[in-house]
Order: sequence, then structure tokens, then C-alpha cells
Amino acid sequence: MNNPHDFIEDSNSTSNPNFADILNQTVSRRTILKGGVGLTAAAMFGSLPLMASTNSTTAPTKTNLARPTKLQFKAVPHYTGNDMKVAEGYTARAFLHLGEPLIDGIEAFRDNREHSGESFLYRMGDNHDGMHFYGMVNGKFDPNQSNRALLAINHEYTNENLHPMGFFTQEDNNAAPIYRKKRLAMDVRRDANAHGVTVVELRKTGDRYEMVKNSPFNKRFSSATTVDFAGAAAGSKMLITKFDKSGKSTWGINNQCGSGMSPWGTYLTTEENFLNVFARGEDKAKIGTQADVALARYGLKENSTGGGYLWHTADDKEGIVTDEFSRWEATAKANDASADYRNGFNGFGYIVEIDPFDPKARAVKRTSLGRFAHENCAFVPPVAGKPVVFYMGDDARGEYIYKFVSKAKWSPSDVGKGLKAGDKYMNNGTLYVAVFNTDGTGEWRELSYGKVNHKDYPFKDQADVVINARLAADSVGATKMDRPEWISVSPITGEVYVTLTNNSKRTVEATDAANPRSYNNKGNQHGHIVRWRERGEHTATAFDWDVYLFAAPNDLTEQNLSNLSAENDLSSPDGLYFDPRGVLWIQTDDSAYTKTTNCMLLAALPSHVGDGKIMTTTTGRNTPVGAMATNDTLKRFFVGPKGCEVTGITMTPDFKTLFINIQHPGEDSPDVTWGAVPGGRVPRSATVMITKNDGGVILGESLQNMA
Ligand code: FEO
Ligand code: CA
Ligand code: CA
Repeated sequence: MNNPHDFIEDSNSTSNPNFADILNQTVSRRTILKGGVGLTAAAMFGSLPLMASTNSTTAPTKTNLARPTKLQFKAVPHYTGNDMKVAEGYTARAFLHLGEPLIDGIEAFRDNREHSGESFLYRMGDNHDGMHFYGMVNGKFDPNQSNRALLAINHEYTNENLHPMGFFTQEDNNAAPIYRKKRLAMDVRRDANAHGVTVVELRKTGDRYEMVKNSPFNKRFSSATTVDFAGAAAGSKMLITKFDKSGKSTWGINNQCGSGMSPWGTYLTTEENFLNVFARGEDKAKIGTQADVALARYGLKENSTGGGYLWHTADDKEGIVTDEFSRWEATAKANDASADYRNGFNGFGYIVEIDPFDPKARAVKRTSLGRFAHENCAFVPPVAGKPVVFYMGDDARGEYIYKFVSKAKWSPSDVGKGLKAGDKYMNNGTLYVAVFNTDGTGEWRELSYGKVNHKDYPFKDQADVVINARLAADSVGATKMDRPEWISVSPITGEVYVTLTNNSKRTVEATDAANPRSYNNKGNQHGHIVRWRERGEHTATAFDWDVYLFAAPNDLTEQNLSNLSAENDLSSPDGLYFDPRGVLWIQTDDSAYTKTTNCMLLAALPSHVGDGKIMTTTTGRNTPVGAMATNDTLKRFFVGPKGCEVTGITMTPDFKTLFINIQHPGEDSPDVTWGAVPGGRVPRSATVMITKNDGGVILGESLQNMA
């Protein structure tokens, strides 16, 4: 392995001005809240469109880059209906629904859902989640192109209503149903192929986008796709399975949740709740205590069935459970790992890289970035000659926040080099985990072999460390967070924001400064957003943090510590995205406030770490809290249909279309038909494009008010 400390010191060796120096100069010239920094800093640090355009003459115009000084649209009120509502002056249209064919020859989606599982390799998958818009010219990535593009979309999981008979078996439905006792092969195939990623070509006609059916770029990746391992764990004994005795590839990507783009223009998808589809029998005596500790740390105890999808229970017509299904049971059955799937579970839980522009390329699991329930992957706009830095959250109760610093130094000439660039920047580097101190400071602790010592789990090598990143993080005292969801980096300040969606298990006693709420000892019900500023460059190992925002119903006085109103209150922030202008978009996935309003999308104009004051929560914790929200700085822009989660977000380079995803509309609400085929009843996940009715830039009404 590389020597991380030497590496970090080396990163300071160039004479390039560093990020902090630039930032300090920038901030001293203009105050952030006046909006001018949005222009300057975005132009400096940029988003991919800017970085990628350093070699071209097509940088976006200044007008496009301006961040509004305040939010001027009229807030969308609380809404509990079956439609979707967007701010006045905007139009929201759904397309790319679950099951929509990507090519000719596949029949249109029918309300009876009796399509083969195999057909989903040519259809839109289920539960659309993270996504990214890639402008395209002549089949190549062009970050300034808005009229022709590839859209990469995650499909996170499947709902019962994907299947004609839900998750029940046929036998079960003929009598009193036995819930998920055994799955049918055709249903598991449908499940597996409706997971993953869709890459779809889009073209713009008038003010809207449509799928380019039969495009050679249209492609599905699913839980049945062969995928390569790369990085520290590739070829490890711990990844050997009957599928690949060399441990260099596996069968499927799963539970694609949040997304990210790489600085070089590929798609970074994630594997989150992979535990859901795995089971494990009785094999502790065979694999030993240490291997059992490792599996249990990821939730797969002996004699358990993960989240209950029971993919391992399906059999074919002759009653034989083939590898297609048995591989989802990570039980040591054979004499050695090359003859069973005991290590199958170790092959999931990674950042997965996909090159949308190379339809022949396989997906690659980037193991060096650690194995856990990955939400998304956010990169820091890189600086030539400096390492590339990525941030990631592990979305489970009490899990951690991680950072990966590449060994290789950034070269802008790598934009467009696809998976080769991924090999360069993601296979070698240093993984860290975050510690949030009570005084508003924090530190990154290194997770490298030789530097992590777990009392119950002696690591064998760096492959072991990344495969069991949670155990490594445990051993260095990482801070247990209230379910880290999306992370995004402000293009204005370089500060990093993370949604902590909620944590029903956070007791009052277990609260800390960064996770300071437990209402009536029933946990953090509504979640919050934490942000931090690295001390110096993004490779730093120390940072300063505060709570940007506490989510809460506006009338819940004790919990409403950010002064939210009916125009901007929310629960359970989840999706989080800084657009290239520095507007922060916040999406919700809650079940705690749905009697008052469906899930939503809000726009925000945050300032910076330390712009507020120390507050004391009802649990008695003193916490640095950001400036109070106002209707100028945080406002509800969109509300989705009943039962949905609003998630996934990306914007076109011209800022005229905002794409979001509606996931599981109508969940637990049988009356909802949002997204159904004409005349049908079954609601379907879909992508929504939001445009301004005057054809202008999203939130562009504020441009006249620029400082
Ligand atoms: Fe897939 Fe944590 O949301
Ligand atoms: Ca999420
Ligand atoms: Ca969530």
C-alpha cells in the first residue's frame, strides 16, 4: 500500500495556489451573501461544466453562473394529494416511467405487469434514484451541450407492485398468503433486472426531453450483469466465489441509491442496502469467529434473511435452485470458497463506476473507497497537480462519513478518458473516516492496513480493511451519525454538506454535538444537515463543522431550531445537490410529516460554516448551528405525489431544466395512480423534468437582482 502520510505531504509540494488560499482571497473580496462570490467562486472551482471546459472555449456565460441573491418564487404549500405541485411559473412533466422499453421489439408496459424478468434488461427499471445528465455531441461527452445527452439513472430497489402478485408465491395466493416464504423464479428475475442503472439517450424538442429509442447508448446494468472489481480488494481471497475463482469479478450491481459524477466524466453509482437481498444459513463453525464478526457487522448474522427479498429461495421448473438464485445465500456450504458463494456478500457495497459513453464497457466496483451502505459519492472540484478527493456516507443508523484521497494528482487532460481515468484516481489512495468533536472541530482518521487495529478482528491486509471498512472505522473511534445520506460540495465555499436523515434509535444518552436530538427519547425523528470546512486543502485531516439546518415541522417548537416556517419546513432530508451556481437543492424521504405534506424538493441559499451561534438542544447538547433559515434562503419548490420519495437530481448545462425522480409513488396509499399507464391503476416511478414557463433559467427570476 502507499504511505498515506508521505502522500499528503507530497501533495503540498507544487507551487500552485491551494484551494484555501484562493477561497480566502475570494471571500475577502466579496461577502458570500451578496451573491457575487457565487459568480467568482463558481468560475474558479466550478462544477464539471467549468472544469471540463478549461480545454475548450465554450465556458458557460456569466449570466448562467449567477446564484440568485434570494429565493423569489412563491413557496409551494403543504400538499397531501395524488398529483405533483411545482412553484408557480414552472411546469413539471413525468417521463421515463418504470418498464418503458428502451428499444423496439419490447412490448409497452402493461398494467397487469406480466412481463418477463428478462425484458427488464431492455426497460426502465424500478425506483429511480440518483442520476446525472451528460451533454453529448457526436457521441462524446460535452459538458456544455443541453439539447442532446445521456441520462444515467439509478434503480434502487423493487416494490411489491412490480409483480402481478406482489412478493407472494402462487401457492400462497391460492390460500392464506404466507408473506415472502418463497419467491418465484420469474419474480426474482424481474426484481434483479429492475435494479441497477439505466443509461438512456435524450433529445430536446421544444422545451422538453424525450428518450431516443434504440440509441446505441441505451443500456441497462442490473443485478444480473457481470461486473469487475478494481482497487485494493480486487483479486482478494475474500472475493473468491464460484462465479469467479480469481476474485476479480462478480455477478451484479445492486441497490443503486445516490449518484455522483467523476471529475473525468463517468458515472459513480452506489450499492446501498445490499443486505436486503442476501441470506445466510448456519456456517459459523465452518468459517470461524472472525469471519462471523465481519458478516454480522454488515447485518448478515447466522440464520438470517437480510431485508427479506429471499432471492435465494427461487427455483427453476425442476425444483433445482441454480446459482442464479443460490448465490444470494452467503453460506459456506462447500469445502472452499471457490465452490460456493460464502463471499458473495463481500462483493457488494461499493462505489461502482460506469462509463455511459462506452456501451461495451462493464461496470467496475471501486473497492478502495470502502465497502458499506453507500449513499452517494461527491467529488471536490479538483485542482491540477493536487489529489482528487471524494466524500461518501454510509446510510445506516449510527454509521459513518468517509473520505477518499487519490494517490494520483489531478490532470485536466483526463476528462473524457473514462474507466482508465477511474483506474488512475480511484484504485490507489487513502480512505479516512470522520470524527466530529463536541467543540465544532473534527478530524479524519486514516483507515490503512497497519494503522487500524480492531480488538475482535485482526485485519490481514488492505483488501480486508476496505472490505470491512466499518470494522476499521469502529476501531479508530469514528462518530456514529444519524444515517448519512447524500453529500454535496458547495462550489462557492468548498464546504461539504451531508444530510443526516433521521435516527429512530438515537437515545438521549447517546446524543452528541453533531447528532444532538432525541425527541422524547424517541430518536432524531426529522433529521438535520451537517456541513464542514476542511482546514486548508480538502486533503486536510482536520475540519470545522456546524449544523447547517435542523429539519422539523414548523409548529414543533422544541425541535424547530432553525426557525422553519410553513413555507420551508421539512422532515428527513435525503437527496442533496449543489447546482453549479451554488444553489442547494434538498429532497425529502420521510414518514414522520406525511400527514401534513408529501415529500418535497426545496431550494436553499446557504452561507458558510460558523454563520450562526451555539444552541442547546432539548437533550442538553451544545451544538454550533448555522444562521436561521428565512423565506429568502430556504423555500419549498416542489411537492411530489402521495406516498413517494423525491430523490435524484441533475440540471442541464443551460440551467433551463431540472430533472428529479419520483420513487415509489402511492406507497401504502392504494388510491394513488400517479405514473400509471393510461387507464391503468398501478403507480410507477418516473423521472420528472421541471422547466420555467417563460423558457428561462431555473430560479433565473433573481438574475435582475444580482449584486
Ligand atoms: Fe437509498 Fe439512503 O437512501
Ligand atoms: Ca436516499
Ligand atoms: Ca432515505
